[in-house]
Amino acid sequence: MATRLLAIETSCDETGLAVVEQRGSTITVLANELASQTDIHALTGGVVPNVAAREHLAVMQPLLRQTLETSNTDRNNLDAIAITVGPGLMPALVIGVQAAKALSFAWDKPLVPVNHLEGHLYSALLSTVSSKRATFNSQAQEHFPALALLVSGGHTMLVLMTDHLSYQVIGQTRDDAAGEAFDKVARLLGLPYPGGPALSRLAGEGNSDSYDFTRPMMNSGDLDFSFSGLKTDVLYTVRNLDQATQERERANLAASFQAAAVEALVYKTKQALAKHSPRTLLLAGGVAANQLLRQKLKQLAEAEQVPLRIAPLDLCGDNGVMIGLAGLRAFQAKRTTPWPDLDATARLSLDSLPTPQLESTPAH
Ligand code: KG4
Ligand code: ZN
Repeated sequence: MATRLLAIETSCDETGLAVVEQRGSTITVLANELASQTDIHALTGGVVPNVAAREHLAVMQPLLRQTLETSNTDRNNLDAIAITVGPGLMPALVIGVQAAKALSFAWDKPLVPVNHLEGHLYSALLSTVSSKRATFNSQAQEHFPALALLVSGGHTMLVLMTDHLSYQVIGQTRDDAAGEAFDKVARLLGLPYPGGPALSRLAGEGNSDSYDFTRPMMNSGDLDFSFSGLKTDVLYTVRNLDQATQERERANLAASFQAAAVEALVYKTKQALAKHSPRTLLLAGGVAANQLLRQKLKQLAEAEQVPLRIAPLDLCGDNGVMIGLAGLRAFQAKRTTPWPDLDATARLSLDSLPTPQLESTPAH
């Protein structure tokens, strides 16, 4: 028997709608629609929450129609609606939450609240190989405990998953997120928003040994991260260069910053591997698209002989599919909420959605 979910994601600046279906252990993506607001936020150099909300509202209806059409979905073949309830920008979150509530009421379908971060984690946990029409294998039981490096624009953390839907944050950033640091340094180097992808492209043309930037938190004795010191280090270095040198050195500065940031991420991941001996290593979140990070984490996983799962490249950034993937699991675990009770929470921690009755889920 098949389980089909509509998934909605509006936590930041991407409106993501998807339909995912599970048959046995195979999950198929039947529709994956994404409306990115990048061009709009590039004008202001960052996301303005109310502008993001207005855009989500503007595209929600046409995107929903497209998603349902593409996947041949209507109220008769849909089982539930998965919705990102946090963390994220409140004005943006509530647009998706309200749309999900309206559909739940009109179609009499259960709502599955999903934490945005668990969406990122599931995009790596269930991924087979990257492909446009992705199929996913839900038989992930053998991967636990899994250690995840979750790196996005808003979060940087190491998460231990001892089972499905069970998360323990064992390390996190004390200030900026990794993606945020990439974006800020990119801005410093005059690159357009969002800076992460542009900065890593520029870094490809530079020499990472040119500047010896701070490798943050190497000796902190815990699994936490910090990126504001590194960012400041880059800032002062750039300020001390004259205009002409700044221009000439941009690629070297980008490469040196990227090397320092990636080294800090990989170093703490290595420490976490040693401490927790997981059966699988996961890499997810927007910054997981970074080629150097992917490469360095692959090397680490090989050296430590732990299988590595990375979210497919097209699912690293925010999207509806990842919410559907986590949503399927949560739905099977009966983690549903009646629509009048569903709310958005801007600062939602990973462990705050009600722990489901795992014994009531299928064996896999
Ligand atoms: O997961 P995501 O799409 O949104 C959040 O939940 O925050 O992550 C977006 C972040 C941005 O900071 C963006 O600059 C960064 O991911 N990013 C990258 C790369 N691609 C996206 N950072 C470094 N290298 C990349 N290739
Ligand atoms: Zn995200």
